[in-house]
Amino acid sequence: MSRRDPHSYADLDQGRVSHLDLDLDLDFATSRITGRARLDLAAPAGGPLDLDTRDLEIRAVTGADGQALPFKLDPRDSILGAKLRVELPPGSASLTIAFVTSPEASALQWLEPAMTAGGRHPYLFSQCQAIHARSVIPCQDSPQARFTFDARVTVPEALTVVMAAAPGAATAGPRPGTRTFAFTMPQAVPPYLFAFAAGNLVSRDLGPRSRVYTEPELLEASAWEFADVDRMLLAAEEIFGPYLWDRFDFVVMPPSFPYGGMENPRLTFLTPTLLAGDRSLVNVLAHELAHSWTGNLVTNATIDDFWLNEGFTVWAERRILEKLEGNEAKALSAAIGRKGLQDALDNFGAGSPFTRLKTDSWGADPDEFYSMVPYEKGFLLVALMEQTAGRARFDAFVKKYIERFSFTSITTEQFEEFLEAELPGLAAEVGAEGWIRGEGLPQNAPVFTSAQLVQLQGLATGWPQGARPEAPATEAWTAIDWQIYLQALPRDIGAEGCAWLDEHHALTRAGNSEILCNWLALAVGNGHEPAYARAAEFVGQVGRMKYLKPLYTALHGNKATRKLAAETFSKHAPGYHPIARGGIERILAG
Ligand code: BES
Ligand code: ZN
Repeated sequence: MSRRDPHSYADLDQGRVSHLDLDLDLDFATSRITGRARLDLAAPAGGPLDLDTRDLEIRAVTGADGQALPFKLDPRDSILGAKLRVELPPGSASLTIAFVTSPEASALQWLEPAMTAGGRHPYLFSQCQAIHARSVIPCQDSPQARFTFDARVTVPEALTVVMAAAPGAATAGPRPGTRTFAFTMPQAVPPYLFAFAAGNLVSRDLGPRSRVYTEPELLEASAWEFADVDRMLLAAEEIFGPYLWDRFDFVVMPPSFPYGGMENPRLTFLTPTLLAGDRSLVNVLAHELAHSWTGNLVTNATIDDFWLNEGFTVWAERRILEKLEGNEAKALSAAIGRKGLQDALDNFGAGSPFTRLKTDSWGADPDEFYSMVPYEKGFLLVALMEQTAGRARFDAFVKKYIERFSFTSITTEQFEEFLEAELPGLAAEVGAEGWIRGEGLPQNAPVFTSAQLVQLQGLATGWPQGARPEAPATEAWTAIDWQIYLQALPRDIGAEGCAWLDEHHALTRAGNSEILCNWLALAVGNGHEPAYARAAEFVGQVGRMKYLKPLYTALHGNKATRKLAAETFSKHAPGYHPIARGGIERILAG
């Protein structure tokens, strides 16, 4: 009898929920879902069964024969939520729970029509990673507890439901004016990959296995931006082996979606800030696609093994990029990653335990210690192993690793054991122990460079000596080049420096969200007044935390804009996702 996941009350020795049969009825008037979940056990069980919930109202629990079962809902823990203990009669094969979600459910964002592109219909979406599935369904909310499911979702008939599952029929709903969408998920998934969205959605096919869903207003732009999805899918299959999820569809979400992308199986979610109009941000799509293997097939056992998901996926994302766009593009992407890692290391402090790949997060909230460390330090370790073993050997290893652990959830230690068996001595050669359990960045981190990178960084670091980005050189700069340049500039170029850049390159009017965010953070930090209003406007238009955090940090950090930061937050807080709201509150309290 033991809990094996610091972020779940589930005790898998009590029994394993292996299939869910779900009915969800969405009420936009009250921002509540009325739900019924039948939880089927992998093997008959009896005695206590502990489940995770957060802010769920539990109306009834019944056994397979319809008899009420005793249950107890514990007080709510601020990180874990409330443990629900059901007493199962011996030999129970299933239990059914009737429940209602809270308007504050941490996985859900209910959008007023005004927060959508069309402005006429409401919208609801879920975001369950890391530990939010429990606010939508009572479940064993640990990545070690995979389940298959069938679901029926009822919505007002003007809306369409999409789910990270195979769609079935849409039929007339239980009440006039409603429709019910059926889904089935034949592949077992960890609870954090449970996902759905409901809104005024249309779609377009982009390839034999891919289709984009979004609101009608964004369809054209979305289809254009991600037109290369099928080539990406083929490139990813070359690296990892066959794609096992049947379809790779995706949804371009409303702007309040708090992440860049989320790898929900069969249905990736993407932020609309990727619609740059130049395909410069499609690496996020490649990243979520790569999770179809690293993350969704081979899953981290707990959040402390998160680097297995993200480090491998960033590595794969850059291998896909290398295949499609070449080495130069890969080096630039790695440089952007390296900067993100440096910022994270500086933020935590060099000796912080959160700069380890394998973390120990008992008592900590995954949303609070989320950082680029597992992504970019993880990437560097995987790339180092690839370079040291040689690409051919390492690629063969990766394919074998995926095959061996498909549809399972593994710890870092299981990875290390497999690595030692397959590529003996490699871990010692690269110093894997220090990488995985040590703080900071080891000396032998691989370095990616290119002629263009050297030129851009040279120009940026030469700023104090008078180097300036000028035509004709800048005429050929891509959005990525601008990102690299802005990130490499000294942080203290002053208001005059910013004015020069703005005058020559109109950066405050940049349409590319990455350029804009990098620029506004720099400009606000340097007291460039014309950027203040645009920064405040931008954080009111997007909900992606990658942009909200640095911009609120800059606005809060500048005395002249501290008040603006607070006012802007009060104005837009109701429209932010609950997770984003919490993150900004911590910044403004600092
Ligand atoms: N799985 C993550 C998003 C995530 C992580 C959500 C942890 C909740 C908790 C996703 O694959 C991701 O990493 N997205 C990145 C994009 C990527 C290119 C680094 C993002 O959202 O920016
Ligand atoms: Zn990821």
